[in-house]
Amino acid sequence: MQSDHKQQALRDFVADVSHELRSPLTSIKGFAQAILDGTAKDKKAQLKAASVIEDEAKRVIRLVDELLELSRMESGQIQMAQGPVDTEELLQHCHEIFMMRAEEKDLQMAADIKPLSPVIGDIDRLEQVFSNLLDNALKHIPAGGKISIAAQQPSADFIEITVSDTSPGIPPEQLPHVFKRFYRVDTSAAKTGIGLGLAIARKIVRAHGGDIKVNSILGEGTEFIVRLPVNVNISREWMPEPRRYSCSRLSL
Ligand SMILES: Nc1ncnc2c1ncn2[C@@H]1O[C@H](COP(=O)(O)OP(=O)(O)OP(=O)(O)O)[C@@H](O)[C@H]1O
Ligand SMILES: [Mg+2]
Repeated sequence: MQSDHKQQALRDFVADVSHELRSPLTSIKGFAQAILDGTAKDKKAQLKAASVIEDEAKRVIRLVDELLELSRMESGQIQMAQGPVDTEELLQHCHEIFMMRAEEKDLQMAADIKPLSPVIGDIDRLEQVFSNLLDNALKHIPAGGKISIAAQQPSADFIEITVSDTSPGIPPEQLPHVFKRFYRVDTSAAKTGIGLGLAIARKIVRAHGGDIKVNSILGEGTEFIVRLPVNVNISREWMPEPRRYSCSRLSL
């Protein structure tokens, strides 16, 4: 029974990956052919075709990279670092970096970060979680909208970070699926994504002993809530020197 289940999971996985690779590879083939057979006649048409080929090839590379990362996490090949993480500072840096990107898109960005006990874990991986949540918010809200980061410590045992936005929202029937591999809600903004960011984010958060949830109201917005256990035994004096966070890996 267990092995039937594994076989089915493997078949689903291969079907998903083939489906995701087919579309960019079909574009690459079509545009390369247009250059070769002269359908793309002039320089301008050839440059356009080459640029589509480059974009689609980048998409395939990103897909394969993210997929490998997810599979290594699932098989336990990626070890999470176990250091003290100053989440207050990490979130402040994420706020600063994404504030610039929000301004470029004419969006507002707010942060309300309360004092937080340190988390034990992998700072780069946690950065990746918040980058993806902020990146998603940026992609989905129209100009004039707002993104907020709120962080608090409701109890001695855990902290809670909420990334919310005024996006058009996710339909209730689609909400349970957004953490699944390759799942994208059918909107034009979602078409640019690979659909792996939230699956990876949830793996990372769970590897830290926490969890991530989503709430969304159509026409109002979406919020992702990350809950992480804290280590109250670490004093702030023992925190490492502040470092430069990039918090922008996914957007580059
Ligand atoms: N803030 C949000 N507002 C509206 N829809 C969202 C939001 N965040 C995620 N979604 C929906 O959930 C889907 C899955 O998100 P996820 O981050 O996993 O993938 P992606 O952003 O499409 O691609 P990737 O992160 O791999 O580049 C998105 O495609 C989008 O449809
Ligand atoms: Mg994403």
